[in-house]
Amino acid sequence: MTERETVHVALGSRSYDVRIGAGLLARAGEEIAPLLARRRVAVLTDETVSAMHLDSLRAGLGDVAMTALALPAGEATKGWEQFSRAVDWLLAEKVERRDIVIALGGGVIGDLAGFAAAVLRRGVRFVQIPTSLLAQVDSSVGGKTGINSTHGKNLIGAFHQPSLVLADIDVLGTLPARDFLSGYGEVVKYGLLGDADFFDWLEVNGPALAAGDSVARQYAVRRSVEMKARIVERDETEQGDRALLNLGHTFCHALEKATGYSDRLLHGEGVAIGCALAFELSQRLGLCSQEAPSRVRAHLKAMGMKVDLSDIPGDLPGAEALVALMGQDKKVVDGKLRFILARGIGEAFVTSDVPSDAVLGLLSDALRG
Ligand SMILES: NC(=O)c1ccc[n+]([C@@H]2O[C@H](COP(=O)([O-])OP(=O)(O)OC[C@H]3O[C@@H](n4cnc5c(N)ncnc54)[C@H](O)[C@@H]3O)[C@@H](O)[C@H]2O)c1
Repeated sequence: MTERETVHVALGSRSYDVRIGAGLLARAGEEIAPLLARRRVAVLTDETVSAMHLDSLRAGLGDVAMTALALPAGEATKGWEQFSRAVDWLLAEKVERRDIVIALGGGVIGDLAGFAAAVLRRGVRFVQIPTSLLAQVDSSVGGKTGINSTHGKNLIGAFHQPSLVLADIDVLGTLPARDFLSGYGEVVKYGLLGDADFFDWLEVNGPALAAGDSVARQYAVRRSVEMKARIVERDETEQGDRALLNLGHTFCHALEKATGYSDRLLHGEGVAIGCALAFELSQRLGLCSQEAPSRVRAHLKAMGMKVDLSDIPGDLPGAEALVALMGQDKKVVDGKLRFILARGIGEAFVTSDVPSDAVLGLLSDALRG
């Protein structure tokens, strides 16, 4: 078995550790006890994760008393209704200012529970126990918390850093293949935005990782978390560099909106397609060689992931409508679309200087397939 590893996120008084490895649920009590003012925790989770992993967490907490609320699984939970249910429940459970809330689940639960902790009694601490690959490599680290509004995704929220993150590699074993690969879209993103060696490594080891190799999984989670931590340390509230983490996301958000945030397209699937489009756009603008987008596409295809717009089931709106959807993104600054483009694999940069006809041309061609 590989040793457990720790990535420290250095944010002054808001610093914390991300522990990564097998068997972390089983030692949750030991890990969390140093943070506790009294030996009890309140857990927010979803019904799917609860059925599979809540008993292990309870056992791992030992003599730390646990109370839990399981919300319905899925993105629809990330709205006012379930949020107010969660906050009322935490108050009914008499969670106090010095207590700890635990988020046990994927990005939906992590975002919702983190936001609940941010506003409960003007802020209580929380611990992330991410159970999906996406949550382990991305959403549990960095302190973005929140819920969706009818006006769009993630429009209501707060920056609230967790006090500890426990990424137990074993729990990924129960994740359905499609959800695993969706999270893998975010893993690939890290290689593409800032670490060409990591992308080389993924080209070789991606299939083993998807097949369940725990050493490969731990390495991929650790490297992804390290990259996210270093970027968040430089730019906690996204004034600049943190936007690099949005590689592929401007396209992804338009596609998610166009497909109604439904099962037709999972978030990480949209990120993967978006990364392929961002590299294609970079090549068309003369920023990188043709080899780069070809390699991105080849790897995503080799992993059995969605790459082309035609891989999304059902009809999509036309190119102009997609560009209009991009314009509603919260990453728009002064009406200008912000894109993350690349000079090569591992060399992404942020720019607002993209001619809109280049984007229209790219999407028209992509829709023709
Ligand atoms: N805060 C951030 O920085 C950030 C970053 C990226 C994404 N996000 C958010 O994350 C959310 C997506 O996260 P997600 O993909 O984890 O979605 P999710 O939380 O809906 O989890 C996906 C599905 O997998 C199930 N699941 C989770 N862990 C499991 C396990 N170990 N075994 C079996 N099933 C399991 C869940 O019940 C759910 O049905 C979106 O709302 C997105 O906006 C946030």
